[in-house]
Amino acid sequence: MQSEAAYNYQVVRQFSVMTVVWGIVGMLVGVIIAAQLAWPELNVVEWLSYGRLRPLHTNAVIFAFGGCALFATSYYCVQRTSHAPLFAPKLAAFTFWGWQLVIVLAALTLPLGFTSGKEYAELEWPIDLLIAAVWVSYAVVFFGTIMKRKVSHIYVANWFFGGYILTVALLHIVNSAEIPVTLWPMKSYSAYAGVQDAMVQWWYGHNAVGFFLTAGFLGIMYYFVPKQAERPIYSYRLSVVHFWALIFTYMWAGPHHLHYTALPDWTQSLGMVFSLILLAPSWGGMINGIMTLSGAWHKLRTDPILKFMITSLSFYGMSTFEGPMMSIKTVNALSHYTDWTIGHVHSGALGWVGFISIGAIYYLIPRLFGKTQMHSVKLIEAHFWIATIGIVLYIASMWIAGVMQGMMWRETNVDGTLANSFIQSVKATYPFYAVRLLGGVLYLSGMLLMGYNVARTIAGGKPVNAPVLLPAAHAA
Ligand code: HEM
Ligand code: HEM
Repeated sequence: MQSEAAYNYQVVRQFSVMTVVWGIVGMLVGVIIAAQLAWPELNVVEWLSYGRLRPLHTNAVIFAFGGCALFATSYYCVQRTSHAPLFAPKLAAFTFWGWQLVIVLAALTLPLGFTSGKEYAELEWPIDLLIAAVWVSYAVVFFGTIMKRKVSHIYVANWFFGGYILTVALLHIVNSAEIPVTLWPMKSYSAYAGVQDAMVQWWYGHNAVGFFLTAGFLGIMYYFVPKQAERPIYSYRLSVVHFWALIFTYMWAGPHHLHYTALPDWTQSLGMVFSLILLAPSWGGMINGIMTLSGAWHKLRTDPILKFMITSLSFYGMSTFEGPMMSIKTVNALSHYTDWTIGHVHSGALGWVGFISIGAIYYLIPRLFGKTQMHSVKLIEAHFWIATIGIVLYIASMWIAGVMQGMMWRETNVDGTLANSFIQSVKATYPFYAVRLLGGVLYLSGMLLMGYNVARTIAGGKPVNAPVLLPAAHAA
């Protein structure tokens, strides 16, 4: 049974296409900074120097690529599982244009050197205000649609999306509390000082990982993996239990970013303990996702979209095992400040966040443009293998480099003096930087294949808005 109304796919289409565009841009900047680390001579002008481009890379991949993927998938999922078109469509359109404006402003101001100096929250105060306006509108559209739903149940993916939307609003508003100084050049000072500022920043930073890079993407996993596998979630009960455990535990883990600093020691230990506990709810999600394939494992052989999704869950499991280990103080004493952290970040970022987003966008594009499948399934398969080899080269080189750096820094001579100078460890790292660059180039090449495949699919189709299905007819 169908009703007269149609789902609002327009905004989903816009965000889906921009996910691919920003993915290519953000990863290209990643490749450039990776090359600058291998060949420092590439730092030619100040606004294209490593220090300016690095925050551009992190903002572009996390908030532009990851953010657009989250907007697209959450808007798609909440409508279909609520059997209702999006609440306040004009506000939804504002979230699209407002978010693109934030990204463009970031791309202009970061190379100019405007920064609040807080990692993952570098953007200056006027842009912070715009982010807050877009995010509150996002919450109104999302929760308004939930309120309008035609079924009493709220599907678990929406719990994860809802948790991420609420928490990111809280994180952004608290961490970005600042006193504006000038509009041009944009300048402000944090409302917090000293170690409190550091604590608020890493409460934000770790929860940005936990809610932006994890809970939101678990929302994607809970909708798109069962859909693509055509199987129900392995355990609905587990999904609810690990949701509450995850959001409770993440909030306390931030201090593991500040081990051996001026932060009180007991706070660091608290962060470590909660990080260790975090392994359990994280693996709850990973197991639930992978086991959803029970009885459908054979599909992995022929379906590259499912390959992206299941491999992404394996990387999620890997990085959420590694993270708790790195939060143990004695391990962190070796890993901190080294490229091991960069390896950890990118096994989560390229493997988990990247692959689940790519899988979901491949699922969405044909459906949004009236096609039964992507222009070329072979190209999706090629994308999968090229990107997987890219990740392996990236993270393996960074792990080896990181452990090597940590060992070199702590090696002492018999008289107790340091055996290596810092610059010796930098020199020893160059070959690994070249391997990482190769990994990055492969990952970016995969994204370019995706861009071509998406463009051909769109060119051969036309935008469609599916009719709203009445609850009895459809299990979303
Ligand atoms: C072609 C793909 C990519 C390449 C070549 C690349 C390269 C890099 C490089 C060279 C750095 C600086 C490392 C350093 O400070 O020593 C970096 C940092 C970072 N990248 Fe990427 N990246 C890529 C994709 C991504 C994606 C898709 C994400 C997230 C979804 C991401 C998230 C980050 C984050 C969060 C950092 C900061 C890490 C930290 O401060 O510990 N990257 N990336
Ligand atoms: C159980 C889950 C996790 C725990 C306990 C954890 C723990 C850690 C620890 C201990 C560090 C090193 C801090 C330092 O020495 O400075 C770290 C860094 C980081 N992790 Fe994780 N991690 C987890 C999962 C993830 C996932 C899934 C992602 C990405 C999708 C991720 C992204 C990052 C980023 C971006 C950083 C670098 C932050 C910075 O210094 O800029 N983590 N994590």
